[in-house]
Amino acid sequence: MAAMKQKLLFFQRHLLAVPVVCLILTAGGCTKKNAGSEVFKKKCASCHGLDGKAKTKLAQGRPFADLTDGKWSHGSDRESVFKLVADGDPKSPMPPFRERLSPEELNAVVDHVMKLAQGTVPPQK
Ligand code: HEC
Repeated sequence: MAAMKQKLLFFQRHLLAVPVVCLILTAGGCTKKNAGSEVFKKKCASCHGLDGKAKTKLAQGRPFADLTDGKWSHGSDRESVFKLVADGDPKSPMPPFRERLSPEELNAVVDHVMKLAQGTVPPQK
């Protein structure tokens, strides 16, 4: 009977370990939930602004840098946005990011841009 109790204790301990490990991973930023907005903040906000409205010195006078107005010069579907972010637009200050971001980061930031365009991202400070 003692062996049975031991086994039960072992089981309980390990069962508890699972949520604890999950918690640590989440707190440590292992979750990729906000990857898109993080990349945007670091690589894109200097021109496009955190809210994507392009109210920045670098993008002033370039209406297509506003990513929230629903006006697109390079195409509004996800594929066109992805291509533009990857390859840039040589005729404008919009740089290519294919070499500077991993495929995961590229995909995440494009998802973020698509959300900005739909106005579903709450304004950030
Ligand atoms: C150096 C400034 C700069 C940076 C950094 C920058 N952009 Fe741009 N971006 C621009 C400008 C300027 C335009 C407008 C291009 C034009 O006028 O044709 C633009 C255009 C775009 C467009 C197309 C809008 C349209 O109407 O077709 C998308 C999408 C975009 N940028 C996404 C991004 C993303 C995502 C990042 C970060 C990974 C980023 N940009 C970083 C300056 C920048």
